[in-house]
Amino acid sequence: MAKQYFKPGNMLYPLPAVMVSCQYPAGKEDVLCTNPDLAGKPNIITVAWAGTICTNPPMLSISVRPERYSYHMIETSGEFVVNLTTEQLVRATDFCGVRSGKDIDKFKEMHLTPLPSKEISAPGIAESPVNIECKVREIKPLGSHTMFLADVVNVTVDDAFFDEKNTFHLNNTGLVTYSHGAYFLLGKKLGTFGYSVARNGNNLRFLAFLFCKDTDASITAYFLLHISAV
Ligand SMILES: Cc1cc2nc3c(=O)[nH]c(=O)nc-3n(C[C@H](O)[C@H](O)[C@H](O)COP(=O)(O)O)c2cc1C
Repeated sequence: MAKQYFKPGNMLYPLPAVMVSCQYPAGKEDVLCTNPDLAGKPNIITVAWAGTICTNPPMLSISVRPERYSYHMIETSGEFVVNLTTEQLVRATDFCGVRSGKDIDKFKEMHLTPLPSKEISAPGIAESPVNIECKVREIKPLGSHTMFLADVVNVTVDDAFFDEKNTFHLNNTGLVTYSHGAYFLLGKKLGTFGYSVARNGNNLRFLAFLFCKDTDASITAYFLLHISAV
């Protein structure tokens, strides 16, 4: 099998491409804001270098270049909202990743609605199906990017994606993923967690139950091993 070596680089794909909303704290002078019309307004930055990093406590990280306008908003306020992106939001996602909030109001330009958050001051984006409110716990300069390690302090989900049994169907929201420079709509379902070793429908149902109760893969895998052993 012929293979080629690439120089070391970022090749971990696919990734989420999320819209991160943030806002400079009220009452503090935003020295980087040169346009008085934009003073105090929330901003949106598209981020692909993002990931879940801990189940309990729930934590995630985003990596942002210090030269981004949003960087100082997040650093100063210590908070941000991760808004998941969908097919309907893909143009806005791209726009918020190529234009700076220094010059324009991205909420206004993209006809997006600020959604008041429950636990933090920065608003989410109402058009996103999932808004993850975060408080920064640690700031780690890494090189080109600085990583914000953050606690998830609230998650807001859209009522439209609940069924009659009050189960939330995230995979019906039209989620978008980013891979090697392009956006993709999440594709065909190929299996559910643990399907490769589940023996029958009951096991699958039990696994689905566990997965809904606790999305920590290691706990579910532990149960899975025990089920398949009997
Ligand atoms: C798909 C995509 C992913 C991006 N991911 C990141 C990222 O992970 N970190 C980052 O600092 N910039 C990232 N960017 C670039 C910023 O979103 C972009 O520079 C943006 O205009 C910054 O906005 P601001 O100046 O209002 O902060 C990404 C852009 C796109 C289009």
